[in-house]
Amino acid sequence: MATRTSLQKTLGIGLTLGVTLLWLVGVTASGLVAQHEMNEVFDSALEETAQRILPLAVTDILNRENDTGNQRAPALKDHDEYLTYLVRDEQGNLLLRSHDANPEVFGTTPIEGFSNTSTHRLYGAFAVSNTIYLEVAEPLAHRRESALEAGLALLMPLVVLIPVSLLGVWWIVRLSLRKVVDFQQDIESRGAGDLTPVAENQLPREFKPIAIAVNRLLERLHRALESERSFTANSAHELRTPLATALAKVQRLKTRIFDDQVKKNVTEIEEALRSLSTLSGKLLELAKAEGGGALSQNPHDLVPVLAIIVRDFEDQVPGRIVQSLPEQEVSSFLDPDAFAILVRNLIENALKHGSPNQPVEVSLEDNGTLRVCNGGDSVPPDQLILLRNRFTRSKTDASGSGLGLAIADAIAKGAGMPLHLRSPVTGRQDGFEVVMNVINTW
Ligand SMILES: Nc1ncnc2c1ncn2[C@@H]1O[C@H](COP(=O)(O)OP(=O)(O)OP(=O)(O)O)[C@@H](O)[C@H]1O
Ligand SMILES: [Mg+2]
Repeated sequence: MATRTSLQKTLGIGLTLGVTLLWLVGVTASGLVAQHEMNEVFDSALEETAQRILPLAVTDILNRENDTGNQRAPALKDHDEYLTYLVRDEQGNLLLRSHDANPEVFGTTPIEGFSNTSTHRLYGAFAVSNTIYLEVAEPLAHRRESALEAGLALLMPLVVLIPVSLLGVWWIVRLSLRKVVDFQQDIESRGAGDLTPVAENQLPREFKPIAIAVNRLLERLHRALESERSFTANSAHELRTPLATALAKVQRLKTRIFDDQVKKNVTEIEEALRSLSTLSGKLLELAKAEGGGALSQNPHDLVPVLAIIVRDFEDQVPGRIVQSLPEQEVSSFLDPDAFAILVRNLIENALKHGSPNQPVEVSLEDNGTLRVCNGGDSVPPDQLILLRNRFTRSKTDASGSGLGLAIADAIAKGAGMPLHLRSPVTGRQDGFEVVMNVINTW
């Protein structure tokens, strides 16, 4: 599976490694060329020295009055010798040597021209009809040291070059990707309900198709949501009107009937029509909640919405609701219509399923925590976790279809806000409590 890497990091490391590698190849090539050239210069100096010493040595040896053999050339002043030399005759007898020369460094038989031992580079030259042999030796360590110093001098800039190129690449990549990062943050920071097009003008050419595709997708999503909303609204209208007409006709019919049995039957039809009407309303609410649109594009203050809903219920059941609303605004991206549907279902449940002798507490805090709580028998945990499912009800005497909590849950999920069901109420032995935060999203 491909791991997610940062483009900035990959480019920064990749380009720096590439530059470093190329530099190393360049340094190696230049080092080899420099070493070759240096060897040529050293060889030429070695040869030149031998050719210079040879006539002097020959004159010196031939001018000797008596052949005393091994003689050491005197040093004018004390010094270290890079180059040492040895002069021998054809029998291998030592005739002359430089003051530091070590005969063991030289081979037993002299070789004309250049040759190598394990430690020295030698140059041999013959004179006086090949009777006098001169050999000059130069330590190889000297050459190696020179090559090493040249190589190090070429490598030194890398110490500065690597951090500088890493910084440079990082800076250029960051500069070029700035608009892309802005684009990414723009998408990340917008709420799930914000379907306005993303800005595509500032993006580099390579990323523009992505922005165009995202905008097309957003537009299609927007159209789909719009058509779903209008379908839901139309269906609601189409269903409600005939049901309301039928209910009105049945109620009128009831007033004209005097036979008790027939009146009882008509009342049953009226009840059935009424619950059908409620069920269709709930189904439409559920369809709307599941169809999205739980979030709005702009934040709204939800306190007045909650106050109106509570007042509506107050009119129906005076004194049962204890409300606690914040002084200041509670601004939320939760769509006010969706919030109204959610709260209505929760308060309706609390009134319907809670103990009639105990109040229903409805509270909204400054931090956005909404809490609807009622007394009564607590719901067992195994049933509690199932109550969000459609048409699922626990033990209750009240009428209903089991859709209210499914609607509330769909709205909360659509808005990305967790809905908590608790029974018994926190800190009590009984009751049922629903808690949700209308500001924090997942
Ligand atoms: N506030 C509450 N107190 C006690 N029990 C509750 C409460 N809210 C829900 N319940 C239990 O959860 C079940 C499911 O609730 P839900 O709102 O989904 O359906 P309903 O209220 O029975 O019917 P509908 O809401 O469709 O009219 C209820 O039948 C009830 O048993
Ligand atoms: Mg309900």
